[in-house]
Amino acid sequence: MALEKLVIEGGHPLRGEVTVSGSKNAALPILAATLLAETPCDLGGVPRLRDVDVLARILGVLGMQIERDKTGRLHTKLLSEDCNTAPYELVSMMRASFCVLGPLLAKRGYAKVSLPGGCAIGDRPVDLHLKGFRALGAEIEIEHGYVIAKAKRLRGANIYLGGPNGSTVLGTANVMMAACLADGTTVIEHAAVEPEIVDLANFLIAMGASIDGAGSHRMTIRGVRRLEGCAHDVIPDRIEAATLMMAAAATGGEVLFKNIDPTHLEAVFDKFREAGVGLNRNCKTVAVSGAEPIREVELTTLPYPGFPTDLQAQMMALTIMGRGASVFTDSIFPDRLHHVSEFKRMGAKILRVNNTCVVLGGTPLQAAPVMASDLRAGAALVIAGLCAQGETHVRRIYHVDRGHENFEGKLRSLGAVIRREPDEVPEKPPAV
Ligand code: EPZ
Repeated sequence: MALEKLVIEGGHPLRGEVTVSGSKNAALPILAATLLAETPCDLGGVPRLRDVDVLARILGVLGMQIERDKTGRLHTKLLSEDCNTAPYELVSMMRASFCVLGPLLAKRGYAKVSLPGGCAIGDRPVDLHLKGFRALGAEIEIEHGYVIAKAKRLRGANIYLGGPNGSTVLGTANVMMAACLADGTTVIEHAAVEPEIVDLANFLIAMGASIDGAGSHRMTIRGVRRLEGCAHDVIPDRIEAATLMMAAAATGGEVLFKNIDPTHLEAVFDKFREAGVGLNRNCKTVAVSGAEPIREVELTTLPYPGFPTDLQAQMMALTIMGRGASVFTDSIFPDRLHHVSEFKRMGAKILRVNNTCVVLGGTPLQAAPVMASDLRAGAALVIAGLCAQGETHVRRIYHVDRGHENFEGKLRSLGAVIRREPDEVPEKPPAV
């Protein structure tokens, strides 16, 4: 894959209106859930992203045909259940693909899925996923970096899925998908309550599953014998929406956002108010303006409905442009701070002790070549580039392409001066 970068000329306030894409983090578990269906599914609002492409390749290996029609809807059709192994070289590209395990185990009674491994934002354990599957009666072995799960018939159970940092989003998704075809009733205690989990539950219910309590910490799933394909449109992407809102505010612009659900963003709006970001909302759209100087905030990331860890880096970029001292702590992924050193290359003043950072606002950012380390840090560096004096090069932009559909196209439509270029990797220095 040829490396690419985004070249951004700072200083242009974002103005206009933008339509937010469908949610990556809703679409991925819902795509995995199509493995449970006896008949085809029809999915709308699935964004065109690298992560979706990777999962589609894995589903293809698992015997699922996936095609996108000219209107952009995805159609899935099961062709074969012969192959039940999700290979390392694909799973390691995108850890969310681990959530094919639950559907495979429930529908086919066998699954061999590579352990996802860690990533730039920290260790990404799956112990809670495996705890849930064992509670449902599955036999779980770890061999040569793969999880091998077997069960003739899963049986309902009471499962506590809370972890050291609260609930697990994909762990909840994986276990609830498996429980849909189990014998009897499953109660998941300390289930994740993210909107993406509610969207997955709505999709499963449309397929014929019996689920109560989605969106609360206690979810009850009564197992059924079979699930049918259905049509479903995924919810808007709250993380993309808030990322673009932070870009609008940081550049001192004014943008109207369409295709959003404002009720998914209450914690973000609360911090916007604290920071002095101009907000004007109704039930379907939100207008954001950065007319006033951004004020200091104190922020700790929390599971939903708290402030999302996926917006920590982007909010930090916004406060760099403001005044005063802001404090950030990521309680979900304590290592999710690789963007700090890149912001400092641009002149930001940030102090760090363990997983807490103090941002000293008021220093104008200078353009610089910087490196994306994960998809949200990459988006945060783009926000910084939109505000910096000069031309910023954000390298390894494939990270951003994982989670933001047509990111530079949306920004350009709002007046950003931004272009994608090949990222020449410097020749290896001669050996000395
Ligand atoms: C989901 O990841 C999201 N990914 C992440 O978004 C998001 O950052 C994360 O939830 C937290 O909101 C998708 O939905 C595809 P977790 P997930 O299991 O489910 C610990 C993005 O940028 N934990 O909720 O993998 C874990 O270490 C991505 O779009 C265990 O201890 O995260 C973490 O501290 C990045 N054991 C906490 O729980 C487990 O078995 C939350 O992780 C699983 C998790």
